[in-house]
Amino acid sequence: MVIRRCGAQRTVAVAVAATAVLAGCAADPAPSADPVPPTAGTTLVEPDDANAPLADAAVPTLGDRDLDVAHYDLELDYTPETGELDATATLELAVERPSDAVVLDLVDLDVTGVRVDGAEAPFDHADGKVTIDLGEVVAPGAPMQVAVDYAGVPDAVQTRALGGVEVGWQVRDDGSYVLSEPEGARTWYPVNDHPTDKATYDITVTVPEGVTAVANGELVEERADQATTTTHWRMAEPMAPYLATVVTGDYVGTSNDADGDGVLPQNVWTAGDTDGAEDLLAAQGEAVDLLEGWLGPFPFSTYGGVVLPPDDTEPFFDNVAIETQSLSLYGAESVVGETVVHEAAHQWFGNSVSVTRWGDDIWWVEGFARYSEWLWIEDADGQAAYDRAVERTYDQLAEAERPVAPGDLSVSRLFSAWSYDRGGLTFAALRAEIGDEDFEAFLRTFVERYGGANARTEDLIATAEAVSDEDLEPFFDAWVFSDELPPAP
Ligand code: TRP
Ligand code: ZN
Repeated sequence: MVIRRCGAQRTVAVAVAATAVLAGCAADPAPSADPVPPTAGTTLVEPDDANAPLADAAVPTLGDRDLDVAHYDLELDYTPETGELDATATLELAVERPSDAVVLDLVDLDVTGVRVDGAEAPFDHADGKVTIDLGEVVAPGAPMQVAVDYAGVPDAVQTRALGGVEVGWQVRDDGSYVLSEPEGARTWYPVNDHPTDKATYDITVTVPEGVTAVANGELVEERADQATTTTHWRMAEPMAPYLATVVTGDYVGTSNDADGDGVLPQNVWTAGDTDGAEDLLAAQGEAVDLLEGWLGPFPFSTYGGVVLPPDDTEPFFDNVAIETQSLSLYGAESVVGETVVHEAAHQWFGNSVSVTRWGDDIWWVEGFARYSEWLWIEDADGQAAYDRAVERTYDQLAEAERPVAPGDLSVSRLFSAWSYDRGGLTFAALRAEIGDEDFEAFLRTFVERYGGANARTEDLIATAEAVSDEDLEPFFDAWVFSDELPPAP
């Protein structure tokens, strides 16, 4: 495996699922394509706006806005041969309004027992919700521990955000992996499944001896028992539920051997191809260095990448990558330089600073990640190359008959040219508008202010205005809130 650069061999155009336009050398936004209706006979979450006042139109039935989970401790026993997961999730949480129940998202798997602060509690599991009876009205803020025992073969769920592609836990012959964005977390653990409820995680995975298991964050402990291996991973920084991942299978780890003095430890997991691992490690290191120059320190204590084996079950995943927190996953065909920097950029934009509402905020998440690909090009090949990348993207977008404002995207357009490319162009235009110095200060200030938490477009605008001391209302109105595409930056 060699880390390609975009250019002559632009083989990785990805517009597989409806309007989805993902990272890499794509540059093929197919912006006028309307979403392909999901395959018949599938269960999709239908919008139900009669939810809480803060409901998210993209995932209207998910999450409970009155619940605050501080920590997930997931103990997973996984058998790749059968696909069986046997697990206990222990959540440290509090309600935010007086309540006599806790409601969590979980599909398919069988819940066999629930304990609240150690005592058996009655529960009901139906329609993707586990409702736990607290037996009394509990006051807001009172810390509670809720443990859920569950088991079964996880089944991924279709999402309208990717034209019906299934997200969540993927059971494969040779192991498993988890790609949840935006709504697959509930396929493998009981969760308050909305990015506004970020939490820290301990993920402990027991697999048969000889199988490798990797999850987000740092490796805390590794243990061999009779015929099993257990690894314990810790994500100590707040993480949105969709960014949690576990990968099992036949992987080899390669490390940059950071010795702890200021060097970010980085690891890459591949199915045996150690040459490729060195290349990815090198590209990842360069991407992190470049982005630290623009954004400040990497937001997590470690970074890694997993190169998934080719997937016959869902070829879509071969050509995409995902920014799972501190451990990006790459489809077998997706390892190109631009994608590596794209996923690294998400560690700040999307992971450390997370969306508040999917449809309102995804444009600055995917937009900055796309923009980072151009920073990478600028760094390697100079300003003219950067200008060409921006111009080419603009020209493609300008061909769309019906342009769409990125600031209020419907679920089928979350991962479309309107978030990635128009979002990326918005950053390019902002840099041209306020100048390099203010642009860099804006990026750093935004990340500093909202790192570890969530932000909204209004926060981003306010930060840009404060740093540049300019009225940017007309600028953002044109780029983010109006359908019509503004003049090229
Ligand atoms: N955020 C991913 C990216 O880097 C795209 C994405 C969204 C994705 N949902 C996904 C990839 C599910 C794989 C599976 O651009
Ligand atoms: Zn992205």
